[in-house]
Amino acid sequence: MKIIHTIAELRDHLAAFKHTAFVPTMGNLHAGHLALVRQAKPLGDVVVVSIFVNRLQFLPHEDFDTYPRTWEADCQALEAAGCDVLFAPSERELYPEPQGFTVQPPTDLANMLEGHFRPGFFGGVCTVVMKLFACVQPSVALFGKKDYQQLMVIRRMVQQFAMPIEVIGGTTQRNDDGLALSSRNNYLSPTERQEAVQLSLALKAMADELRAGETDLAALENRAMQALEARGWKPDYLTARQRSNLQPPSATELASLLANSGLVLLAAARIGNTRLIDNLEI
Ligand code: PAJ
Repeated sequence: MKIIHTIAELRDHLAAFKHTAFVPTMGNLHAGHLALVRQAKPLGDVVVVSIFVNRLQFLPHEDFDTYPRTWEADCQALEAAGCDVLFAPSERELYPEPQGFTVQPPTDLANMLEGHFRPGFFGGVCTVVMKLFACVQPSVALFGKKDYQQLMVIRRMVQQFAMPIEVIGGTTQRNDDGLALSSRNNYLSPTERQEAVQLSLALKAMADELRAGETDLAALENRAMQALEARGWKPDYLTARQRSNLQPPSATELASLLANSGLVLLAAARIGNTRLIDNLEI
């Protein structure tokens, strides 16, 4: 595996390849990231993974400074997963001057759910992904469904800017108990780690209720929020949305969306100081 820190060297090295498959990450790699790398392998003649903790997508009170950085372990894991090029630019390399040009995603998609609770987040994500795409110039880019709204925002950006990149979603990888893998799981105390599975269980319970014929979405979402609150969580949202645009389904559409696998349940909640997200396509 070649490790590259500068844009110039990356361009030089990738000039020899026709189809690049790209997996952008912020490091602290786990089996979720590595599954994307393995999925990328047959999709290009070179697989590039980037590691860059992107300041632009963190709010001032968020965990940019303490975000886990595990360089040695990440390099070993990437090598074993078949990564060909690890692109790890410094902040100076990627943002040599304040990033004045930014990508502003449309409010209908980016100001709800995660964007509502983390204002500016998707602008930060789009800006860095646009810039990484310009550096790597991939044919294919892979993103996890774990960050469901992020995947949708990136798909729309690529589509609206007519970027010649195929965006592919990867299945969410989970621990044995069902907790979605996340770098932020490292922050959980042993008791919180045991409790954390309740987020995915809450989504499953919502799915069961919908399949059993519940049509009052507000009541369903309130019950799910209250059940987690009663266990000590601070939920931001647990909600049923249309897969196509993440908008709330109308009462009249609900049955057909449910029958045609057109729904996704999305959740974000805080346990202790750690904010976890998860989702379930139904
Ligand atoms: P990061 O959180 O490091 O995630 C990198 C990629 O791994 C994302 O596409 C994410 O959806 C995927 N991923 C994370 N956990 C996963 C899991 N349990 N199963 C499957 N895939 C998973 O997402 C980011 O970084 C950043 O926002 C980034 C796109 C790199 C821009 O800075």
